[in-house]
Amino acid sequence: MPAAVPARIGWALELLDLQPDDEVLEIGCGSGAAMELACRALDGGHITGIDRSATAVARASARLGAELAAGTADLRTAPLASLEAPASSFGKALAVNINTFWTGPAHAELQVLRRVLRPDGLLLLVYETPGRPDRQLNGAAASLRAHGLEPEILHGPGPRLGALTVRF
Ligand SMILES: C[S@@+](CC[C@H](N)C(=O)[O-])C[C@H]1O[C@@H](n2cnc3c(N)ncnc32)[C@H](O)[C@@H]1O
Repeated sequence: MPAAVPARIGWALELLDLQPDDEVLEIGCGSGAAMELACRALDGGHITGIDRSATAVARASARLGAELAAGTADLRTAPLASLEAPASSFGKALAVNINTFWTGPAHAELQVLRRVLRPDGLLLLVYETPGRPDRQLNGAAASLRAHGLEPEILHGPGPRLGALTVRF
């Protein structure tokens, strides 16, 4: 029986509203569950998953064999702050349960996103926490505002889910 999709990942994919030709970056892809779902919505588009953990990337690589072989997905072991990609590579970026954006100002990471996202590109941050994700949402919103961005906070289906969307 296929594993159930965690609520945070199902909601993230819903909010991302993928179009077949989207070029997508997932930050902190973990074992690749969101990437696997995203690939089903892509036809001509592409998703790059990055994770700073080589173990996570190895797990994602095992899960995404067909998608990697088809060229719909690729994986890199890298922290977001050192991501090497041409300017304006991606129209959408998502990060699910990634601490980087709310635990500190994330200046280096947001500078990378400003470069690799297209003008008006979308960043989606989703948090699923044991209680309400207020600390995560408020902390990430502060980081984004300090970078001159105007995030919108969304409250999820259920009290443990929250998200931010922002256009660059
Ligand atoms: C809590 S797990 C979440 C994994 C997946 N997104 C999910 O929701 O199941 C966080 C993952 O993000 C990765 N990570 C955290 N900060 C990162 C960063 N700044 N750049 C790249 N990967 C990061 C970690 O190595 C870890 O695999």
